[in-house]
Amino acid sequence: MDAVLRGENVAVTRRTDVLAIDPHHPDPDTIEHAAAVLRRGGLVAFPTETVYGLGADACSSAAVTSVFEAKGRPTTDPLIVHLAAAPTGELAASMLGQVVRSWPDTAQRLALHFWPGPLTLIVPRAGGVAPEVGAGLDTVAVRVPAHAAARALIAAAGRPIAAPSANRFGRVSPTTAAHVLEELDGRIDLVLDGGPTALGVESSVVDLVGDVPALLRPGGVTLEDLVEVLGEVRHEPRQVVGDTDAAAGPGQLLRHYSPSTPVVLVDGDTRVVDELLAGLAAAEVAAARIELSDDPEAAARALYTALRDGDTLGVQVLLAPVLAPDGLGRAVNDRLFRAAHGRVVDDAGADSVARLVALTTWVPDS
Ligand code: TXA
Ligand code: MG
Repeated sequence: MDAVLRGENVAVTRRTDVLAIDPHHPDPDTIEHAAAVLRRGGLVAFPTETVYGLGADACSSAAVTSVFEAKGRPTTDPLIVHLAAAPTGELAASMLGQVVRSWPDTAQRLALHFWPGPLTLIVPRAGGVAPEVGAGLDTVAVRVPAHAAARALIAAAGRPIAAPSANRFGRVSPTTAAHVLEELDGRIDLVLDGGPTALGVESSVVDLVGDVPALLRPGGVTLEDLVEVLGEVRHEPRQVVGDTDAAAGPGQLLRHYSPSTPVVLVDGDTRVVDELLAGLAAAEVAAARIELSDDPEAAARALYTALRDGDTLGVQVLLAPVLAPDGLGRAVNDRLFRAAHGRVVDDAGADSVARLVALTTWVPDS
C-alpha cells in the first residue's frame, strides 16, 4: 500500500503495513515490532477501548509534527499523551512526572477511579514532552487507556505516546482498522488491527486547571460518574468555538466528526423525523435517517460506522435524531451535533423543511 501525498510543503510517502493483534492477549513480538517503529519516530495506529489512536513518540518534536501532517490537523489543536500505567508513588519518579508539572488532588481522585479507562485529564504540562504536543498551551492532556494491546505497546515503547484519533482532521473517528486505512493509508507506517473498539466514542476530557473541574468533551466516562467523584463538574452542552480558533477551546471545534453528506441534528421524537422525511420527499430531496439504538452503549458503539455508512447512501441530507441526554447519550449527542456543524431543527414545520432543502445546495469549503 504505497501512496504519495502532498501536504503544504512536504511530500509524505509511507508504506502502511497492517498487523493483526489479539486485543486481549497481544503477541509480544508484534508489540515489540510496533514499539520499535514508535521509538525510531514512526507513526503507528493502534486500538484503544474508545477509538483507534495514531501514536507517535511524545518526546520527539519530529514524530509529533508528523502526526499533525498525516492528519492535516492544525498545529493549534493539542494532542493527548498516553501512558501505560496509572501513577503510583512519587510523581517525579514516574513517567507521569515527565509529562505533568503538577498533579492536583482532583486528578489523583479521578485517576484512582477511572484509570485505566476512557478519561483524559488536562493538567499543567512539564518539559519532558515535545512542546508541539501542547500546541503552545502550558497544559497537557493525559490518559491511561484500558486496552491490553494499547498498554503493552506504550510500555514496550518505554516512553509517553502522543495519540489523537487516527482520522484526518475534522472527519469521523475510526473504530476499526479498515476505517484507519480509509483515512490514513500511505501516510503512516503501521496499523495494529485489534478488531472493532469496545466503546465507540472517545474519552471524556476534563480540565482540572481552572477553579472548578470542567468537562470539555463528554465521552466514555459519564458526567454523572465524574460528579459522583468530584462533587462539582461544569459542563455546557453544545459549546463551540470557531474552526480556526482551536487553541481557544481545544476539543470544542464545531466542524468535527463529519461525513461528507450534510447532517442535521433533530431535537425531537421519531414523529418529527418521519414528518421531516415526508416533507423532504415532497420537495424531491433524497434524505435518510441515521439509525441508532435507544440504548446509549449500543448507540455509541455503532455511531461512527453509522455516520460512515450514511455517506455511502447517496442521499443529500442525513437526519440524526438526538438520544436521551444522559450517560453515554450525552457523548453521542455531542458528536452528532458536531457532525451536523451545529445545525439543529426541533420541529417539522415548513421553516425547518425549507432549511433542510436549502442545505442541498451546500458546498463544503474544504
Ligand atoms: O479516546 C480518545 O481520547 C482518543 C484515543 C486515541 O485515546 N483520542 C482522541 O484524541 O480522541 P483527539 O486528538 O482526537 O482528541 C483530543 C481532544 C482534542 O479535542 C483536543 O483539542 C483536546 O483533546 N485537548 C488535548 N490537549 C488539550 C489541552 N491541553 N487543553 C484542552 N484540550 C485539549
Ligand atoms: Mg479526534
